[in-house]
Amino acid sequence: MILATEHLTPGELSALERYHLMTSLVVPRPIGWLSTRGVDGVPNLAPFSYFTAISVRPMLVAVSIGHKKVGLKDSLVNLRHRGAFCVNVVSEELLEPMNESSATVPPDVDEFELASLTAVDSDRVDAPYVGECRAVFECRVQQEVDLRGAPNTLVIGEVVGVRLDPSLGSEEGTRIIRPEELRPVGRLGGAAYSVVDQVRRVLRPDRR
Ligand SMILES: Cc1cc2nc3c(=O)[nH]c(=O)nc-3n(C[C@H](O)[C@H](O)[C@H](O)COP(=O)(O)O)c2cc1C
Repeated sequence: MILATEHLTPGELSALERYHLMTSLVVPRPIGWLSTRGVDGVPNLAPFSYFTAISVRPMLVAVSIGHKKVGLKDSLVNLRHRGAFCVNVVSEELLEPMNESSATVPPDVDEFELASLTAVDSDRVDAPYVGECRAVFECRVQQEVDLRGAPNTLVIGEVVGVRLDPSLGSEEGTRIIRPEELRPVGRLGGAAYSVVDQVRRVLRPDRR
């Protein structure tokens, strides 16, 4: 038995300590690499690891966007204005460009250009997606959830299109995309990321 005896109380920790614990213990997190179009038409791209899938009927994803000391992040401004965003799946070869796209830059700077990526217009939603990605969710903003004083806005998006690289393999007879081919990146604490080096398959117990 492992005794977890150091018993911390969130109210006694600094915001930075809470952030460190949260982001190094809730791991690995998928990265919602969000692409949006600015009010003035400039494409925008930024990663968010407070991101997850929350429903399949309808297909919903959720992303928690932190506020800046002053004002809102461009992604939030844009998805509010256009009612849409795309979520681009980060495969291993896109780790560096994903990181580059997280730079804090003014709204008129196109992070696609910054990271040498191709912005392709979605034909389902008013947002671009990353042409180099092997899988993309095209989303309409469904709702924002008030986090009661937290300096974050939780955005829920309904997936209205799923774009896939046709060469991406799935498990036979299913839509289960093979992780060995997708090679998704996960966010760990600090500057650490996980990549798929080894996949273990464990079947669910049959209790009928
Ligand atoms: C891997 C990674 C994950 C991130 N996750 C989040 C997140 O969940 N929420 C958040 O507010 N910022 C997150 N950030 C920081 C944003 O990407 C960063 O603030 C970005 O500049 C926002 O861009 P925007 O102003 O164009 O929306 C993350 C950065 C990295 C590199």
